[in-house]
Amino acid sequence: MHDLEHKVAVITGAAGGIGRGMAETFAGAGMRVVLSDVEEAALRSTTAELRADGAEVHAVVADVSVADDVSSLAESVLRKYGAVHVLCNNAGVHTGSRPSWQSTLDDWAWILGVNLMGVVHGTRVFLPVMIEQNEDAHIVNTASMAGLLTGGSLYGATKTAVVSLSETVHLELVEGGWKPRISVLCPGLVDTRIYLSGRNRPSRFPDVGPTPSGWSVDEARRAFKEYGVAPRVVGEQVLQAIREERFYVLTHPEYGEHIQHRTRQILAGENPTLLPPPGA
Ligand SMILES: NC(=O)c1ccc[n+]([C@@H]2O[C@H](COP(=O)([O-])OP(=O)(O)OC[C@H]3O[C@@H](n4cnc5c(N)ncnc54)[C@H](O)[C@@H]3O)[C@@H](O)[C@H]2O)c1
Repeated sequence: MHDLEHKVAVITGAAGGIGRGMAETFAGAGMRVVLSDVEEAALRSTTAELRADGAEVHAVVADVSVADDVSSLAESVLRKYGAVHVLCNNAGVHTGSRPSWQSTLDDWAWILGVNLMGVVHGTRVFLPVMIEQNEDAHIVNTASMAGLLTGGSLYGATKTAVVSLSETVHLELVEGGWKPRISVLCPGLVDTRIYLSGRNRPSRFPDVGPTPSGWSVDEARRAFKEYGVAPRVVGEQVLQAIREERFYVLTHPEYGEHIQHRTRQILAGENPTLLPPPGA
């Protein structure tokens, strides 16, 4: 998709982090951007800040895990702009216990609902509209490097599913001769607030599994700041992938060795082992 000026982009999880990075980048490219998020106050302030910078933005509160919310989001977008050209199924959360079987059913319901069903809802609602429009259009699903590597626990399970679903949709679009294209975004560490995902955990999922011992919130904040890439950089990489109609969007090439390690173990019939993170 080459001509992006004035085109309409919808981004879920756009109030902060990677979603906001994409929103800023798309607005900078002259697109009209629909920011959607479950976190109302953050959505309001991000919308105001982007508008103050001259962006054409529309904001819609929606919980991507709720099918009706995503349908209402689409109705609002079509009422406002009459079309949709780019959809970023980006909202996501992180949870999970170690060992993984100690995670509760509420942990599973929440993370599957947002990370996987959010993408399913977005695709089911928006892709038929894009196909019907019969114009260039593009979906970007945010998975993770955890969707390509060994051992990502509940989070990795949802992101592996997003990679697989995105590959399927790509094949279906190409084989069916439909115009929309799709990409799967697989970032490594990005400087966002994902380590505070619990802020958006709905009260209907109260049963939290034992928290894995690891980083404190302060340590996580420091690590994400120090080692994470800026969300805006990811936004630029996504924009370029849309222009090039490139499916796999890997923001951290240094993980290539880890992907090869996993593939080699699968082909050699070896049991999975972990390589240390890049730079460790
Ligand atoms: N930060 C990283 O290192 C990293 C790495 C790989 C993949 N990701 C993925 O990137 C995506 C964005 O995460 P981020 O890192 O920017 O984190 P973030 O927490 O900064 O942003 C996520 C956004 O999603 C929103 N959100 C949460 N639940 C929602 C729901 N049910 N409906 C709608 N919106 C909801 C949040 O309010 C927030 O604005 C996620 O899918 C995440 O899994 C992040």
